[in-house]
Amino acid sequence: MSSIPLQSRLPKTYRIKDVKQETEMVRTFTFDGSLGARPGQFLMLWLPGIDEKPFSVAFDDGAETKVTFFAVGPMSEALAQCSVGDLVGLRGPFGTSYEWKPGQHIALVAGGYGAAPMYFVAAETVHHGCTLEVFVGARSKEHLLYLEELESLPHVSLHVSTNDGSMGFKGFNVQQLEKMLEVCQKGGKGKKVKADIDPIDQVFACGPEMMLKAVSELTAKYKIPSQLSLERYMKCGYGLCGNCVVDPLGIRLCTEGPVVKNDACIKIEEFGKYHRDALGKKHEF
Ligand SMILES: Cc1cc2nc3c(=O)[nH]c(=O)nc-3n(C[C@H](O)[C@H](O)[C@H](O)COP(=O)(O)OP(=O)(O)OC[C@H]3O[C@@H](n4cnc5c(N)ncnc54)[C@H](O)[C@@H]3O)c2cc1C
Ligand code: FES
Repeated sequence: MSSIPLQSRLPKTYRIKDVKQETEMVRTFTFDGSLGARPGQFLMLWLPGIDEKPFSVAFDDGAETKVTFFAVGPMSEALAQCSVGDLVGLRGPFGTSYEWKPGQHIALVAGGYGAAPMYFVAAETVHHGCTLEVFVGARSKEHLLYLEELESLPHVSLHVSTNDGSMGFKGFNVQQLEKMLEVCQKGGKGKKVKADIDPIDQVFACGPEMMLKAVSELTAKYKIPSQLSLERYMKCGYGLCGNCVVDPLGIRLCTEGPVVKNDACIKIEEFGKYHRDALGKKHEF
């Protein structure tokens, strides 16, 4: 029996209120209502006659909801054809959300559309007195997302990286995170050497699975708690169909995830190795 209320499990119609073209392939849609989502949760977006797919909630302020998406396949390309005034079906919110304590020093690691839910986390955590180190990475500067929004928040230090060096650090955001964790380890409570930065209390990450795997290994090495947003093919979104179950734990990522603590992530054998499609067939990363 699912604990998700019936009204969240059934699609409700929402109107597209605003469309923002973020990059050539990425758009942000604003819908005219709230699903009451917390940062890290996702919704199921239905285009009648086409398909229904999960999308991370990029923002929900109790009045409107945002979703940021890449146009990469049949459903997302059809979605990209929608414009202001069009109606879509939304269900949710579903899944777990990021957890923090007021006043914590948190590192956020974002790759691809992961920058959108990370902005939602950032906007909420700074209201609770948290200070943030935000590591946003992309292939090149044209693909970086949510920089202006993140820069507009108080108590946020932004660390940008691009694979080709066209903006910020040349390389991966996880390399930048590692440098910071090294510096922090020299300081911190009970340490003789004083670092010029406070220790990081937790790391949150959302992005491509190989980036998440690197964050998982790094935070385990430095013994820092982390919470990672994992994705698998989802159909029902609330624990019924079993399509999003991961080996060998058997947890459903739509219900016990998508945000999973690293203690559990390191026990998922398929993490960073393979995922299953709609028919359950394995595909290696
Ligand atoms: C919990 C969860 C949250 C998600 N949140 C988002 C989100 O916020 N924004 C978003 O764009 N997508 C998100 N997705 C992915 C989304 O559900 C769809 O898979 C995606 O929109 C592609 O669907 P499609 O039917 O258009 O193409 P498909 O036929 O499913 O995919 C076409 C090809 O593109 C690849 N692909 C899928 N997604 C991407 C991507 N984002 N970038 C590059 N290649 C990709 C697929 O592996 C496949 O090879 C999320 C998935 C999950 C499980
Ligand atoms: S999507 Fe159906 S159980 Fe997770």
